[in-house]
Amino acid sequence: MTHRTLLTGATGTLGSALRSRLLGAGREVRATSRSPPEDTDDEVEWVATDLADATGVRAALADVDVVVHAATAPRGDSESVDLRGTERLLEAAADAGVTNFVYVSIVGVDEIPYTYYEHKLAAERAVEASAVPSTVVRATQFHSFVFELLETISWLPIWPVPAEVPLQPIDVGEVADAIVDYAALEASGRVPDVGGPERRTVGSLARTYRDARGSCRPVVRIPIPGAVASGFRAGGATCPDRAVGTITWEEWLATQRGYRSH
Ligand SMILES: NC(=O)c1ccc[n+]([C@@H]2O[C@H](COP(=O)([O-])OP(=O)(O)OC[C@H]3O[C@@H](n4cnc5c(N)ncnc54)[C@H](OP(=O)(O)O)[C@@H]3O)[C@@H](O)[C@H]2O)c1
Repeated sequence: MTHRTLLTGATGTLGSALRSRLLGAGREVRATSRSPPEDTDDEVEWVATDLADATGVRAALADVDVVVHAATAPRGDSESVDLRGTERLLEAAADAGVTNFVYVSIVGVDEIPYTYYEHKLAAERAVEASAVPSTVVRATQFHSFVFELLETISWLPIWPVPAEVPLQPIDVGEVADAIVDYAALEASGRVPDVGGPERRTVGSLARTYRDARGSCRPVVRIPIPGAVASGFRAGGATCPDRAVGTITWEEWLATQRGYRSH
């Protein structure tokens, strides 16, 4: 019986947080990337895998009992990577006898008709329809993701944001903790969502970020038409009943170099 976990997307934001935690939990970890790092001092076995064309997928699954699938291409070809790539992984996982395929998804993929979310939802369905025992964990936006979005507008004299949209950002480490716990259990199907401690509007998150930067740029609401924006405005990306994270946006920002709490 092997006790090896395959972690896809191991170089990503969530994948990096998962790597150390899976090792800490005593798992043997095989990690995938299209370009594995050459010099690493951890005990991870790296394999080169490209989910868009199945390169390395079969080899990655050899002697694996658990898969934690965190690879994604939100700004790339999500149909090839998130949907077809997940199907390719599932086929190889079935042949390898995987006992728990943990799929990381996003709160609201079934409420917001954004193409990337549609591919994630189709991937969830492929996971659930597969013969491989599985666990599907949906999380809300990571603090770091909201931060990166705000950084992209921070140079503007006025910050245009969809101010009324509610989000519920969470620390990525808290999401990784929940996923590692599920990876250690038997396959559990769709599990309760993992959401941040507070439901906050984008306007409020942006003002806190601005104050933590010591900036005084005006935050202005821009109206965004269309079904995707309307799905976000309706709270589709939040799960107020599952506010299980503990680290708030203010607390997280205060850990970032150059940002201070008020
Ligand atoms: N970001 C958020 O706020 C958020 C919120 C909730 C849920 N999630 C979910 O959490 C998971 C991880 O998201 P993340 O934000 O941590 O992602 P990320 O930082 O963008 O990392 C993406 C990872 O996917 C890998 N990847 C990209 N294209 C690939 C391909 N063609 N073949 C194989 N690997 C590929 C990348 O590895 P290389 O570039 O090294 O190949 C990288 O390790 C995803 O399922 C995402 O939907 C994210």
